[in-house]
Amino acid sequence: MSNRIMIFDSTLRDGEQTPGAKLNAQEKLEIARQLARLNVDVIEAGFPISSGGDLRAVQGISREIKGPVITALARTVKEDIDCAWDSIREAEKPRIHVFLAASDIHMEKKLRRGPDECLQEAIQAVKYAKSLTNDVEYSLEDATRAREDYILKVIEAVIDAGATVVNIPDTVGYAVPDDFGKLIQKIMHKVPNINKATISVHCHNDLGLAVSNSLEAVKYGARQIECNINGIGERAGNAALEEIVTAMSIRKDAFPYDTEIKLNEIYRTSRLVSKLTGIPIPVNKAVIGINAFAHSSGIHQDGVLKDKETYEIINADLIGGQAGQMVLTARSGRHAVRHQLEAMNFELSEEEFEGFFVRFKELADKKKEVYREDLEALIVDVSYTVPTYELEYVQTVSGTRTIPAAVVRLNKGEESFEEVASGAGPIDAAYKAIDKITGLNTRLENYNLAAVTRGMDALGEVSIKVTYKDKTLIGRGVSTDIVEASVKAYIDSLNKHIRMLSYANNNHNHKSSNQKSSTGQYI
Ligand code: KIV
Ligand code: ZN
Repeated sequence: MSNRIMIFDSTLRDGEQTPGAKLNAQEKLEIARQLARLNVDVIEAGFPISSGGDLRAVQGISREIKGPVITALARTVKEDIDCAWDSIREAEKPRIHVFLAASDIHMEKKLRRGPDECLQEAIQAVKYAKSLTNDVEYSLEDATRAREDYILKVIEAVIDAGATVVNIPDTVGYAVPDDFGKLIQKIMHKVPNINKATISVHCHNDLGLAVSNSLEAVKYGARQIECNINGIGERAGNAALEEIVTAMSIRKDAFPYDTEIKLNEIYRTSRLVSKLTGIPIPVNKAVIGINAFAHSSGIHQDGVLKDKETYEIINADLIGGQAGQMVLTARSGRHAVRHQLEAMNFELSEEEFEGFFVRFKELADKKKEVYREDLEALIVDVSYTVPTYELEYVQTVSGTRTIPAAVVRLNKGEESFEEVASGAGPIDAAYKAIDKITGLNTRLENYNLAAVTRGMDALGEVSIKVTYKDKTLIGRGVSTDIVEASVKAYIDSLNKHIRMLSYANNNHNHKSSNQKSSTGQYI
């Protein structure tokens, strides 16, 4: 038996059943594109009979997405199957996914039909779907609470009817790994035509066992896992895709199977799904929570600084995430604080560091977590008395057949400076005028303008990245006038530079940038 495990993503169907996670067609398409980049094998794009919007969304995905199989869900009725087929018929690799209850409780209480009737309905539905397309998946809803002899009978019958994939859902998250593994083992041994289909599992997380159950099933022969990004889904959600594939990658010894998932797309996919569904990622979520690579305890921080492997089993790069960060707290030791300062280009003498460390502890006692910005404020605190620039006014001219120009007046302490310059546009001209005043050689690396309020008189926030020699600084400015916001952002970065220089001169210990090998970023 092959070790290749097919990853079936149901984020756009079962995941979208998460309360509050409704997605429009455009959002579904955007997620489908990212799922294709992640390289999932199957995208369950929706349940088209549920709404016209979902039908159109699945059609859009089927037309555009190449690579993965595109499937749509249907009950065992002709109208559903026709609608599902209509939604995926243009896909490069279409699959119809049909389901019907398999447990007595579902058949008796929900469907009010007997097992024989349901079995016949399942066979007819699969035969009909098969007449439309070759790839047909059949799901035995609530299989883990069904009678074993009945599910073995259904599986054999739907395979005979043409099902290419048979899914064993733990619909209510009731299974435990040992029993679930044994159930899959029985299916693999007792269903005579089992070699004609792939066995799939679809585990819900009501007892927090969805990932464990899925991985256990694979050990006994399941070769497709249905799972969702960030583990979203009906009630407590479904097995989390990122946890399954990362566990298989990190613990290859325990799970000697292969998937085609591009692990370094996990982080991006997870963030996109969270953003578009509006379902936040819990901070402590395995693999993708923001705390998954953060170290807080002093002992852990010290260990990680000595060797990452002491407390990190997953490298953030593996999933395309950001490198682990130290969350400095009152429990952080000297080693961690010094490391963070060095990463920010500050190297203090022993004596200075001891003084700084006392101030750090005072701050950390008041504030639970201390970030880079806090450290920077603490370290440049001494230099806040140096005079910095303030904008008095900026006037610009620009327009068709006009050379853009600006006049800028800045105050610094008791002094006032004014300069005029022309440029490619009014902002460029204003920045050149400021450069004339300061005499600094700068390079604008990045410019971003965003509206922070609504309406015609919206406040615009400009954030920029400016390089001063080899130091990169971020500046921010807000105004209803975008030229003014841009000038304020430039002055903000300039003042940070002045404070840094002042600190360095006062202490003679802040190494010059060309002695350092770090990125040279203050923030
Ligand atoms: O949980 C479930 O049983 C399902 C089926 C439709 C596959 O989502
Ligand atoms: Zn489900």
